[in-house]
Amino acid sequence: MARRFDAIRGNGKRQPAVPIDAAFTMDYVHRLRFTSDVLDPANPVLREVLAKTEDSPGRLVVVVDQGVAEAWPGLCERIDDYVIDALDWMTLAAPVQIVPGGETCKNDWSVYESVARTIHDAAICRHSYVLVIGGGAVLDAAGFAAATAHRGVRLVRLPTTTLAQADAGIGVKNGINAFGKKNFLGCFAVPWAVINDEKFLTTLTDRDWRCGLSEAVKVALLKDASFFDIIESAAPRLKERDQTAMRSIVRRSAELHLQHIVSCGDPFEMRGARPLDFGHWSAHKLEQMTDFSVKHGEAVAIGLAIDVLYSATMGRLPGSEAERVVRLLEALGFSLYHAALNDPALFEGLEDFREHLGGQLTITLLDAIGRPFDVHEIDLARMSDAIAHLATVAARPLS
Ligand SMILES: NC(=O)c1ccc[n+]([C@@H]2O[C@H](COP(=O)([O-])OP(=O)(O)OC[C@H]3O[C@@H](n4cnc5c(N)ncnc54)[C@H](O)[C@@H]3O)[C@@H](O)[C@H]2O)c1
Ligand SMILES: [Zn+2]
Repeated sequence: MARRFDAIRGNGKRQPAVPIDAAFTMDYVHRLRFTSDVLDPANPVLREVLAKTEDSPGRLVVVVDQGVAEAWPGLCERIDDYVIDALDWMTLAAPVQIVPGGETCKNDWSVYESVARTIHDAAICRHSYVLVIGGGAVLDAAGFAAATAHRGVRLVRLPTTTLAQADAGIGVKNGINAFGKKNFLGCFAVPWAVINDEKFLTTLTDRDWRCGLSEAVKVALLKDASFFDIIESAAPRLKERDQTAMRSIVRRSAELHLQHIVSCGDPFEMRGARPLDFGHWSAHKLEQMTDFSVKHGEAVAIGLAIDVLYSATMGRLPGSEAERVVRLLEALGFSLYHAALNDPALFEGLEDFREHLGGQLTITLLDAIGRPFDVHEIDLARMSDAIAHLATVAARPLS
């Protein structure tokens, strides 16, 4: 084994260096708020999150997802007015910046770069704020710029999709896709605050309205069997776009994701598992294989179905429970089969997971709803059986 040596001492002999391992911890606060119509000057939520601090010059940059700007005409003017009316100690350091939304904004550097440039041009410092309003993709790309400019500017997220409010906006990850891999470039950073404004959800397409529900089912399967029951009984109302039903599902999902981050002991995923990424090895691959025509939330629904059926073929999850999960995902409106699942390239998703975690593969499966366990190997023949089984059960009409 190689020995390390420090400076040559008086007698000319090298002495072994004394290793220094200095452990330290840091305290973080993850602020999560729920509201409706956050930009109403009478609504105190954003004003309180952006309360005056001694160390901040009170300067703000706002980035808006183009899809949100189009769905909410006059939004930029409302932001201008809000800053003037409600944030008396703060100024907009640049005009509100609109960036293209959707997954394509993560597929190259353009959104990352344009937000980083705005932060630069507006002379935003580490104690100023970047407020990002948008879906999970814009939050990831613009958040990556905010987290890396000056090595981290205060980021306030206003997630505007069900998926971003139930999961992505709460996460401590930012990033973009590169070299054909989802989220290959990115970093961990805790946002200054996350504000879920339910009013934004009213303008989503049916597909994007549905997308967040797969992440809610995921976190229920991992953490809370009673939450799974609640989603099951709310399914017809969720499909009919009942805002009250969605409010409670988004809220519980966001809470469970947050609880995991603050109490799992490994928020920055330094260890060998990605427990919140249940069902994601195939989901991430499927998104890429379909050129992102299958959205993240839709791919997660399929990925969950595959991994619960695989858990059943292993004899761990009762078949009736696997069936229950499949039926719920279908009742929520997800289509659970895609021709790309026949392509063996799907299994490269397992290799991507193995490489990401470093050496050992860790995949989460289920013993029961609410009771996950990890495996370090996947039997590809059985996995192919599970996928073939999905092709047959997904084709059956709902009873
Ligand atoms: N960082 C994390 O921890 C984390 C966790 C889960 C998912 N993600 C990422 O999130 C992304 C998916 O996010 P998503 O599901 O929010 O989709 P998305 O960001 O792609 O948005 C979907 C579409 O909806 C539009 N849109 C957004 N809000 C709208 C609104 N209120 N009204 C009308 N249109 C609106 C967008 O412009 C876009 O066209 C994926 O890239 C995924 O990898 C990140
Ligand atoms: Zn996800």
